[in-house]
Amino acid sequence: MAGKIKLGVLGSGSGSNMQAIMDAIDAGELNAEIVLVMSDFPDAYILERARKAGLPAEVIDCGGYKTKFPDESQAAVAAKLKDAGVEIVCLAGFMRLVKQPLLEVFPDRILNIHPSLLPAYPGLMAWKQAVDDGATESGCTVHHVDAGMDTGPIILQAKVPVLPDDDAASLHARIQIQEHSLYPRAISKIAKTATEK
Ligand code: GRF
Repeated sequence: MAGKIKLGVLGSGSGSNMQAIMDAIDAGELNAEIVLVMSDFPDAYILERARKAGLPAEVIDCGGYKTKFPDESQAAVAAKLKDAGVEIVCLAGFMRLVKQPLLEVFPDRILNIHPSLLPAYPGLMAWKQAVDDGATESGCTVHHVDAGMDTGPIILQAKVPVLPDDDAASLHARIQIQEHSLYPRAISKIAKTATEK
């Protein structure tokens, strides 16, 4: 069997998707290892999860910007991921827009999970967009990251019903259950293609 593919994970929040990736690795469902976890928020729970699991975890210095991801920060992140031997970068609730120079260092090797059936509801709080729009179905998407906002080629999607009494929180919770099985499967799919090349 081919060696484990090395993953880097970037996240801004709770890191439940990273947890799902770790669980899939532990269960032998995903032939990978997480070699570096990075967050733009020093207090993000994703960092604590990583440390508890004994994984290297680092804060990204975004130069004091609240939402911008400055070029220098992206270059520094790219260098750290490369130094750690990362082969696939997984965005897991990472709230800043990734662009050059990070994209050019990992061409077709940056994945994102988004809580809608793209191309529907790109951008922030996609679950709320779906509820506000009166959608009867939503879901989640794992896609390659390109220079746009949630526009890259789709790898896998899972559908989730929107129930009549759903609010944004209840729909997001139902979508997250699907995310947690979809993301490891999508990584596995890309990892297999990567190791065949
Ligand atoms: C997920 O719903 C993901 O789709 C979105 O941000 C959320 C991150 O959740 N991009 P978590 O930090 O993985 O729990």
